[in-house]
Amino acid sequence: MNQSNKKNLEFIVNSGVNYFLQDSPRNWFESEKKVELPHINIETDEKKSQIELIIKDLKDHQSSLQKNAKNLVVYDGNLNSKVMLIGEAPGRDEDEQGIPFVGRAGQLLNKMLLAIKLQREDVYITNVVNWRPPDNRTPTDDEILEYLPFLQRQIDIVKPKFIFLLGGVAAKAILSTPLALGKLRGKWHEYKSLNLEESILTIASYHPAFLLRSPQYKKQSWEDLQMLQEKLKNES
Ligand code: URA
Repeated sequence: MNQSNKKNLEFIVNSGVNYFLQDSPRNWFESEKKVELPHINIETDEKKSQIELIIKDLKDHQSSLQKNAKNLVVYDGNLNSKVMLIGEAPGRDEDEQGIPFVGRAGQLLNKMLLAIKLQREDVYITNVVNWRPPDNRTPTDDEILEYLPFLQRQIDIVKPKFIFLLGGVAAKAILSTPLALGKLRGKWHEYKSLNLEESILTIASYHPAFLLRSPQYKKQSWEDLQMLQEKLKNES
């Protein structure tokens, strides 16, 4: 290493930055062990039947998206969770299985959850749009608006304490803003429902599919996840 490179390196390390000084890429989402989240189970049956009603309404709702898809994809996980994760729309694997986030992005999502000591079963996972858009295209604004009432009803029923938005479509739908994720992430927002007394603390972060294509954003994603973990620690 020449003298000027050595000086640069010393300067960077002395500034407190050291995470990139590794031979191999760091796995930001590595975790050691899981911790159980406390759940309140009394309302489960009631919530389940209310969600079943939404599923029925979604099936009855005629839309062009439905014509091109195989299976309706509504939710996975825990109806009593304090945490709701909202993605964009089902992809090919989700369309095959009728379950959100089961493909490659879903596997990364599972790792991201484990990194903050959560299992998939600890959280409620859903999407803005419930049918796979043709060729996995991004849902249009009209489609987002068309499915928003079904999503809002799910939020009202699950009543999470925290919402974690995965990607720009979920951020646009729930925070009603066209702002890019780079501007929205890293801070808490509030989601207010007319049907809930308390507003729900909401964070917007990168979609796992985006992180698979652009792993350099995993560090920011990890910071957002840690913000959620910090709040959950204060809850228990
Ligand atoms: N991407 C999403 O936004 N949702 C899924 O369920 C799968 C991939």
